[in-house]
Amino acid sequence: MKNDLLKMADLTKEDIIDILNLASQLKYERKNGIEHKLLAGKTLGMIFQKASTRTRVSFEAGMYQLGGQALFLSSRDLQIGRGEPVEDTARVLARYLDGIMIRTFAQKEVEDLAKYADIPIINGLTDYCHPCQVLADLMTIREFKGGFDGLKMCYIGDGNNMANSLIVGGLTVGMKVSAACPVDYHPDKQVLDFAAGYGDSFKLTGDIFEAAKDADVLFTDVWASMGQEGEAEKRRIAFKGYQINDELLSVAAKDAMVQHCLPAHRGEEITAEVFEAHANEIFEEAENRLHAQKAVMVKLMGNS
Ligand code: CP
Ligand code: NVA
Repeated sequence: MKNDLLKMADLTKEDIIDILNLASQLKYERKNGIEHKLLAGKTLGMIFQKASTRTRVSFEAGMYQLGGQALFLSSRDLQIGRGEPVEDTARVLARYLDGIMIRTFAQKEVEDLAKYADIPIINGLTDYCHPCQVLADLMTIREFKGGFDGLKMCYIGDGNNMANSLIVGGLTVGMKVSAACPVDYHPDKQVLDFAAGYGDSFKLTGDIFEAAKDADVLFTDVWASMGQEGEAEKRRIAFKGYQINDELLSVAAKDAMVQHCLPAHRGEEITAEVFEAHANEIFEEAENRLHAQKAVMVKLMGNS
């Protein structure tokens, strides 16, 4: 495994399976009261330029459970928010900390942080990708379906950070992946180039029914992501119909799962009925953020 987790494409299939195996072990141990202070004495800095519930709390609680501590660093309070260059911030923080999780806008900022800080950097969401979320998603699929072979993943909606990471992650572990996105909101070109290497295993369409046909797991995400609030009205028009609802589920596999990274907008990308019918899978997915990220931190920041 590389020294940082900047995007899903940094991980091989073997890396992902290793992380998921460790995550499952840590989950089992936590449920059975077995302590695992694998990061005792270590400190994770968590830089947030955007809001967060799950990412902030799961990293902070996870670090505590591993015997270390986490520092919440809002960009509003850091000098980075007043223009101190990321390359200087990186070289300073690397002397105090054992790892940094960063949530920001531009992927380049995360890449620059990794270039200048010689400690592990973990991407906690950018406009381009959300690898920590997709590791939790893959963990949840494996728990409910027993593996990935022969499964079809479907994504409905905006070709955003979630779409980008799900496409790469799903194809890497051997699933078939289909995405239905409006033509002006396709996934990133880099991701489509990556997917082109998987031939018929990937399909991009504008037709949600074509994408969802026989799917074993369906994903969606908000129509307007953080930072796009000003486009909300325009996007409500562009994404009309790009929704997971009972009619769409009727063409999916009989026992299809539904996943959502949260927060969800009921009545937009998913109906309240489908959300509640699949709430056990969706909240298990949210819980798995904790276990998957603990595994990532142990792999990147642990001693062995
Ligand atoms: N899914 C996710 O990353 O949630 P937060 O924005 O609450 O961290
Ligand atoms: N696409 C969403 C994901 C939130 C976890 C956003 O970037 O706001």
